Amino acid sequence: MKHTRIIVTHYGGPDALQVLEEECPEPKDREVRVRVLAAGVSLPDVMAREGVHPETPPVPFTPGWDLVGVVDRLGASISGIEPGQIVAAMPISGAYAEFVCLPQRELVPVPSGLDAAEAVCLVLNYITAYQMLHRSAKVRPGQRVLIHGAAGGVGSALLQLGRLAGLEMYGTCSSRGALAVSDLGAIPIDYQHQDFVKEIHRLTSGGGVDVVFDGIGGTHMWRSRKALRPGGKVVVYGLTSSLRGGRLASGRSGRRNRFHGIPVFGLYIVGGWLLPSRKRVVPYSIQWLKRLRPAWFRQDLIALLDLLQQQKIKPLITRRFPLAEARQAQELLGKGGVTGKIVLVLNGSSLESGAA
Ligand SMILES: NC(=O)c1ccc[n+]([C@@H]2O[C@H](COP(=O)([O-])OP(=O)(O)OC[C@H]3O[C@@H](n4cnc5c(N)ncnc54)[C@H](OP(=O)(O)O)[C@@H]3O)[C@@H](O)[C@H]2O)c1
Repeated sequence: MKHTRIIVTHYGGPDALQVLEEECPEPKDREVRVRVLAAGVSLPDVMAREGVHPETPPVPFTPGWDLVGVVDRLGASISGIEPGQIVAAMPISGAYAEFVCLPQRELVPVPSGLDAAEAVCLVLNYITAYQMLHRSAKVRPGQRVLIHGAAGGVGSALLQLGRLAGLEMYGTCSSRGALAVSDLGAIPIDYQHQDFVKEIHRLTSGGGVDVVFDGIGGTHMWRSRKALRPGGKVVVYGLTSSLRGGRLASGRSGRRNRFHGIPVFGLYIVGGWLLPSRKRVVPYSIQWLKRLRPAWFRQDLIALLDLLQQQKIKPLITRRFPLAEARQAQELLGKGGVTGKIVLVLNGSSLESGAA
């Protein structure tokens, strides 16, 4: 049986994404074959295509951090899971495919009746948001937080979970995302026309915020530190500033550079510890926390699936694309101004329901 997957043929722009038809993979010992229903499209996918994400595989590779699918075939030595079960997984690469074989331990059962596209938003974006709020920052009701890129995939997840946690929230965004940010309960700050440090001090009468969530990276982290109250914390988790218009901001594309930006992270983290005023910069990485604490990943995803089932969270999906249009999906994300998440939907998972 044939199936389709997307491959990145070289490090670079969207033209590096090609559609490949080949034989369906067979599950090995302890593996399960999953028929993918939905795969997320995220900035880490774009950064891996450009060769600058720390998890970038060698080319050619199939992108796609997160998926929801149906168990299709069992390899040898598998028990406790049956064909037809809906599951979620975060393989980091490989999700832009009709079928994928994964170790059984990577699969988390998804309750029936959920929309696969909404459920896939939980795997990368909501776990990132949930763990940063509750495991890194350990937020308490009434605390003030600043969320950068608040209209984006992780940003909108932080807002929904931050509201449930009873936080007072401020969110930077471009003017296109302001309405979504205020609808999700935060005060929007237009990062293109306002100085967010001044705005935070004005809005908090000089007090500053308890926590800043900074996925922008680079020198931006230092400015985030200035928005803190003494004793506050910046949680740093991304390098959005390394991209412009969906391409490398430096213009130096075409090679695998997995440690791009990491030294700057290190410098600011150490600087945060050494300088006075007890303001700390702490890093967060979903993949490293999953490697160190796989039980937390599973536990947090189950908690989030429960919140989705109870309709306490509702992921924003900007647009659903068929798998063969992965390139257009990444181009749209790269252009910016996207509210929430873009999802690839496959194998009869509804393209229409909830599509904008
Ligand atoms: N460490 C981890 O475990 C982890 C996990 C997931 C994601 N990430 C990282 O998180 C970041 C966000 O990923 P995503 O998939 O959520 O991306 P996304 O959906 O594209 O969101 C990024 C948002 O940032 C906004 N933005 C861009 N420049 C900004 C600036 N200078 N100030 C404030 N906002 C700005 C964009 O707004 P406009 O387009 O309107 O300008 C967009 O809404 C990426 O760097 C990604 O690598 C890290």
